[in-house]
Amino acid sequence: MKKIILCLGIVALVVGLNACKSEKEKEAACAPTSLNPNGDSELALLMRDMAKLSEANAIALREGKELAPYKGEFTAMKKAERTMHDFDEHFFQSMSDNYLNTLQKLYEAHPEDRVQLHNNMIESCQACHNQICPGPLKRIDKMLVKL
Ligand code: HEC
Repeated sequence: MKKIILCLGIVALVVGLNACKSEKEKEAACAPTSLNPNGDSELALLMRDMAKLSEANAIALREGKELAPYKGEFTAMKKAERTMHDFDEHFFQSMSDNYLNTLQKLYEAHPEDRVQLHNNMIESCQACHNQICPGPLKRIDKMLVKL
C-alpha cells in the first residue's frame, strides 16, 4: 500500500513539474521575438503593429484626439505564418474574427463611443492572449483607457 502511495506521489510530482515547464515555455514563445531563436514570424510582426496602433489610440483617446490611421491590414493575421502552433486552430480563428470585428466597430463609431469600443477591442486581445500567449498581457493591460 505504501509503495502505491509513493508511486502515485512521484507520478503527481512529475505531472506537476511538466505543467509548470509548459507554462514557462508558452510565455517564452510569446516574449518579444528579438529573444526568439526562430526569428520573427509574420504574425509576430503584425502583432507588434497591432500593439503600436492600440497604444497610439489609447494615448489619442486619453487626450481627446483623432484615432491613428488604420487601413485593414490586420485581417492578414488569420493566415499569417506563426511561431506558436500548440493551440486549437478553431479557437485562434474565432478569436481573430472577434478582434477584427471589434477593431472595425471602433473605426466606424461616433466619437463619443470610441473609448468604450477601444476597450472592447483591447479585451479581445486579452481574451486570446489569456488562453494561448500570456507573455504580452502586462503590456496589453496598459492599453485600456478609463471611461
Ligand atoms: C487570436 C489570438 C490573438 C489576438 C486576438 C491577439 N494576439 Fe497578440 N499574439 C498572438 C499569438 C499567437 C502571438 C505569438 C506570435 C507567433 O506565434 O509568432 C502573439 C504575439 C503578440 C505580441 C508579441 C510580438 C513579438 O514581438 O513577438 C504582442 C506584443 C501582441 N501579441 C500584442 C497583441 C495586441 C496588442 C493585440 C490586440 C490589439 C493582440 N496581440 C491580439 C495571438 C493573439
